[in-house]
Amino acid sequence: MDRPAAVKVDYDCKACPLHKTAHQPVWGRGPENAILMIVGENPGYEEDRKGRPFLETAPAGELLTLILKQIGLSRDQVYLTNATRCTKANQDVTAKMIKACHGHLMQEIEAINPKLVVLMGNPALKSIFGHEGITKAHGLLQIGPDGRQYLPTIHPAAALDTRTPEWQPIIQRDLQAALKIALRDEPNPLVGLDLILVDTTEKLTELDQTLKALPEDDTLVFFDFETNGLKTPFQAGLEHTLSRGLASLRR
Ligand code: URA
Repeated sequence: MDRPAAVKVDYDCKACPLHKTAHQPVWGRGPENAILMIVGENPGYEEDRKGRPFLETAPAGELLTLILKQIGLSRDQVYLTNATRCTKANQDVTAKMIKACHGHLMQEIEAINPKLVVLMGNPALKSIFGHEGITKAHGLLQIGPDGRQYLPTIHPAAALDTRTPEWQPIIQRDLQAALKIALRDEPNPLVGLDLILVDTTEKLTELDQTLKALPEDDTLVFFDFETNGLKTPFQAGLEHTLSRGLASLRR
């Protein structure tokens, strides 16, 4: 599989120390019109030498290829890349290294423009969302800072660990869900839902009154509390039963 021309490669990248030990930066491979992109951690020993990600002949790539086959996909139908383009050799991949490679990853995502990006493992999750926690986040569709759809899952290397083979069916289930979302006509799952940002006490009071006025039927209301970017400590509380709404916001 050739690399799509739209992906701009930089073989002289020295943005982080990984280039010193890597044979070459390994850029993603896959169809230019792939609807699914999978982002791994970093190229392994064999990938570093051959210059291709997730080689079928290396353990993680072999398992990934098998899982993709189990959900009816050939690896050639998916765009495969990594959080860092250079292999880590014997060093730890730091947050700085992931950050240094983030621009390259975003350039690949923009060039391929997939319907959904699967983030396999903590480095991939960290590159896009700035935090780790893959065992909690896996399987949950998220909208990234760039407005794209991301679905985190466990890295296949975890399922290769003889202590945790139970991850394999979980990765398969997550990838199946990712494929289903990528195949839907409507690219954004939030379209069709009314989203209201409640960021002032007045709007919270309004929300409270709206909740109280809701008919006592099967109406579903979802809440998500965001604390990112808040400079002042605050407390927020919201309670709603079919007949009662109660909201408070204190700084
Ligand atoms: N090979 C890759 O290219 N990426 C991984 O995360 C693991 C193996």
